[in-house]
Amino acid sequence: MACILLTGGAGYIGSHTFVALAEAGHDVVILDDFSNSDPGVVARMGRVAGREPTVVRGSVLDEALLGRVFAEHRIDGIIHFAALKAVGESVERPLDYFSTNIGGLMTLMRAARAAGVWRLVFSSTATVYGDPGDRAVPETAPRSHTNPYAFTKLTCEQMLEQAAAAEPWCVGVLRYFNPVGAHPSGLIGEDPRGLPNNLMPYVAKVAIGALPELQVFGDDYATPDGTGMRDYVHVVDLARAHVASVEALLDGRAHTLNIGTGRANSVLELVEAYGRAAGRALPYRVVGRRAGDVAITYADPSRARAELGFEATLDLDAMCRDSWRWMRAQASGFRLNDPE
Ligand SMILES: NC(=O)c1ccc[n+]([C@@H]2O[C@H](COP(=O)([O-])OP(=O)(O)OC[C@H]3O[C@@H](n4cnc5c(N)ncnc54)[C@H](O)[C@@H]3O)[C@@H](O)[C@H]2O)c1
Repeated sequence: MACILLTGGAGYIGSHTFVALAEAGHDVVILDDFSNSDPGVVARMGRVAGREPTVVRGSVLDEALLGRVFAEHRIDGIIHFAALKAVGESVERPLDYFSTNIGGLMTLMRAARAAGVWRLVFSSTATVYGDPGDRAVPETAPRSHTNPYAFTKLTCEQMLEQAAAAEPWCVGVLRYFNPVGAHPSGLIGEDPRGLPNNLMPYVAKVAIGALPELQVFGDDYATPDGTGMRDYVHVVDLARAHVASVEALLDGRAHTLNIGTGRANSVLELVEAYGRAAGRALPYRVVGRRAGDVAITYADPSRARAELGFEATLDLDAMCRDSWRWMRAQASGFRLNDPE
């Protein structure tokens, strides 16, 4: 059993990772400033896992607070989720992204180094591949950035590489493809504020009636139904990948890995699958292509299988079914108690 610090652990991926770590028998300390999560999630995380995490409210930019966290808890490893993540917003407010994402990692690493904690899993993203072309993307694909958010993630990867060359860091970089879905309990999931940036949360809001219809950006791509195809990975699978990643670091095995299924589903396949889960066809309208979108991109997941023994097991129907259960549970104030 180890004690893992989750920065941003009250967020979408962090909350699921807490549950997976608790199930694997690890202790967890969460540091979160709740700038993009609801403090009420902590009790629901406790209901799912059978015990509540220790939560420290504060920012990864607060080095003195981080010092106290490391002094008060015997931390064996860190999973660093805390970041700003909206691509569009990053174009409008790049300095906020530089500060929280790059400054946050630097502050965290300084405090961790002072405490002698060298194992760190970093939340990266497939967007560090820039425009990878229409193919299964291996980890060796060239990296680039097309917006400030991707710039911050690529810069953080490079900071970690250079620090690990000079100091005893043992780092796991996980490049997520498209995390979707929710915990099957319906108690935790993604709760985007305002208009969702990503496809699945948008479709979910159409299904629950909060948005009138989905706009599909282009149906003339070179794919079977003409709409763009992406690699969607269930957040519960993604959470398991984090457990495997931090356990590999505890074992001294650093890694940089894609986390995806290795399959691509089209926009229309996702809309249909969500409609099946919700029990009705969902309204959508095809509009023009969006600048910068490629036809199809998906992970080559073979290195994650070889190095972590990790394989995603949950399919698109499970992703939609669990997302829909979460949407209904939220709408009913979590009074919904049917396990289905
Ligand atoms: N969700 C995705 O599609 C996706 C894809 C690729 C990578 N990622 C990365 O994964 C990580 C987690 O993403 P998520 O979807 O769970 O996001 P999220 O916004 O749900 O969770 C992030 C959490 O960090 C907290 N936070 C933000 N700034 C903080 C700060 N300065 N100090 C402490 N806490 C802070 C927020 O309150 C939130 O609870 C991020 O680093 C994100 O860039 C996400």
